Amino acid sequence: MTPLITRGMLEQLATMLVIGAAVFGALAAWRAYKRDAWRRPAISGGILGGLALASLAFAYTAAPNLPTAPVWARFATSPIPATPDHIAAGRATYLAKCAICHGQRGRGDGPAALTMVPRPFDLTVHVPLHPDGEIDWFVSEGIAGTQMPAWKDQLTETERWQVIRYLQELAAGRP
Ligand code: HEC
Repeated sequence: MTPLITRGMLEQLATMLVIGAAVFGALAAWRAYKRDAWRRPAISGGILGGLALASLAFAYTAAPNLPTAPVWARFATSPIPATPDHIAAGRATYLAKCAICHGQRGRGDGPAALTMVPRPFDLTVHVPLHPDGEIDWFVSEGIAGTQMPAWKDQLTETERWQVIRYLQELAAGRP
């Protein structure tokens, strides 16, 4: 099950709200300095600031702390077509670097995962749940608070997208 909202998403929302609050705050200050009507922007800023606090409160209480890629990462698309060559190359990289934790078939049952907390999720379930760019962000940057390493210095961009293509094929039950 994917939750609708995670701690990371609420943190991103709070950041945007704080930026909005700062803009209105600056406008209110400028108007006050000019002896102009400053109350409306001040109230708007206050409301945004309050909403930011509310999202943070929710983020650290009810919302689950799951891996969350930044908003901008979601827009990246794969430069690698799903051709047999790329999929075979992705499979080779996967078996060499990822299977030890994620398991031969991506089920999260690799030998290194047995004692791991949190355990790697089943990639055949989780990869299709995320846009390409989000998966690439997880693979490139790693996942804080888990044993998932950052691969951006170990694998080239092409190699990362090939692995992702392979995982998408695996999830679709094709290879
Ligand atoms: C040392 C063990 C380890 C290795 C090696 C490893 N991972 Fe992970 N990976 C994890 C753990 C633990 C998580 C966090 C739980 C989760 O999100 O599945 C994770 C998470 C992920 C996720 C996010 C899944 C999701 O939707 O939450 C992806 C995608 C992923 N790994 C791909 C890879 C790929 C591709 C490689 C090889 C290049 C790799 N991993 C190598 C342990 C590992």
